[in-house]
Amino acid sequence: MIISGGPSSVYDPTSPTIDPALLESGVPVLGICYGQQLMAYLLGGNVRKGDHGEYGFAQLEIRANDGVLSGIVGPQQVWMSHRDTVVAAPPGFDVLGSTETCSIAAIAAPKRNLFGVQFHPEVAHTPCGSAILSNFVFDICKCERDWDPAGQIRQVEDQIRATAGDRNIFFFVSGGVDSTVAYTLCVRALGEDRVHGTYVDTGLMREGETDLVRANFPSLRVEDASARFLGALAGVSDPEKKRHIIGEKFVDVQQRILESEHYLDGHWILGQGTIYPDTIESGGTAKADLIKTHHNRVAGIQKLIKQGRIVEPLASFYKDEVRAIGRELGLAQALIERHPFPGPGLAIRCLCSETSAAPERIEEGWIVPVRSVGVQGDERTYRPVLALPQFPSEDEATRLTNRIAGVNRVVVAVWSAAPIAELRVSTAGLTAERIARLRRADAIVRRLAHDFDRTIWQFPVVLIPFGTSSKPDSVVLRPIDSVDGMTARAIRMPDDLLHQLTRELESIEGIGGVFYDLTNKPPATIEWE
Ligand code: XMP
Repeated sequence: MIISGGPSSVYDPTSPTIDPALLESGVPVLGICYGQQLMAYLLGGNVRKGDHGEYGFAQLEIRANDGVLSGIVGPQQVWMSHRDTVVAAPPGFDVLGSTETCSIAAIAAPKRNLFGVQFHPEVAHTPCGSAILSNFVFDICKCERDWDPAGQIRQVEDQIRATAGDRNIFFFVSGGVDSTVAYTLCVRALGEDRVHGTYVDTGLMREGETDLVRANFPSLRVEDASARFLGALAGVSDPEKKRHIIGEKFVDVQQRILESEHYLDGHWILGQGTIYPDTIESGGTAKADLIKTHHNRVAGIQKLIKQGRIVEPLASFYKDEVRAIGRELGLAQALIERHPFPGPGLAIRCLCSETSAAPERIEEGWIVPVRSVGVQGDERTYRPVLALPQFPSEDEATRLTNRIAGVNRVVVAVWSAAPIAELRVSTAGLTAERIARLRRADAIVRRLAHDFDRTIWQFPVVLIPFGTSSKPDSVVLRPIDSVDGMTARAIRMPDDLLHQLTRELESIEGIGGVFYDLTNKPPATIEWE
């Protein structure tokens, strides 16, 4: 049994808990983060309530490599995301490991089959995490190794056939990895005649995207809905509202196509490329906090789910597993290795503001009053950004977001048309002009960073309404590395590439600054909204 992490505190009476008898039953239990705290609390240890918390990398010193830490030699990089901390292990437990700020980072009572870790072994940024889970699952629980995503293809196809029954599947294909793999699986399961696909041009796509999709999938129908999407988004600045509007517009457009093409006669259901992290972060599992609503989990879609009219073949897979399935299906490497691009597109990379405001000078830099989304202790935050005058030493960004409670993101000012103190956040909406400005910036980055892109997981380019009166926007560069999108590490690009990019971005009409995002996830999310 694994008791997972979560944003709760053991001292909150509404927090999830377990019957303490489970911990005496001899069944192997691994508590992760909140799970370790709950285990310590229920068994007579001591948990201290924290205010700020600790989010990001830490070095694990290993005192004893028993049980789950068997075969792992310290120090090890681990990923932390917590507020409360265990300060006294329960009677009979050994402390197996500690970090600089967390003296009880791993505990065990091996004879009772009980283990706990404060850090997250399940994320890619804890390199020894797989070994820890492997020790628990295979050595302690004695499970068999029988999971292989590529080996699941036949079963997934069976599921598609079972869900569809005698109905056909109608698909919206975005050109991204997930929907392409999901569509291909459905075509394999039911045959081309029974699976129709449409690509909706929302007007929020990258430069050249629609042409690329047309070239790759000649049989897809292309629907130009850009005027509808941009019209509905006019004047909206809240990220969650943007997602809801885009999600509902997708449903509207879909409804129109379903009606006009007679897909509503009960013989058709909707296919989607939803993957597992989309479900978790939308609060889709019983206990996960809502980080952001995924555009394919909005009300209209939820209704179709309730009616049993949705098939999501990839809903239990992570991105790296989807790529493994795509490879096994023989899809082109260039298609499989594409960076993920969010369904709501450039809309959630174009930040808006309903007010004007000046940056605030603090000792470390400037607090820029544009708010971006973060995830701290598995909970959503929406906070201003700290801008530094130059690149700090490694890991300083993590220390700053842990220390300065009001911010969840740290950027460096690479270039600005005027001193930062003279820049302003100005009132700005989601206009065609600003989307075009962002699209131009993104296209420049895609062209110049082509080789660098191959070395990283994703590289969002974000537009923020921060600049001078004649150049009111700034570009934020956000290259990150990740394995599954659940956690991410900000990556520094080579200086010469950064200079080259900055020179070209400076020349875009209306651009008054170039910033570089140094924040890991957590505490920031990959996207700014
Ligand atoms: P975050 O920003 O949550 O991003 O750290 C994790 C991954 O998910 C992508 N993302 C989205 N994809 N619809 C999507 O299809 C969305 O609303 C959405 N929001 C984030 C993001 O690009 C990253 O790969």
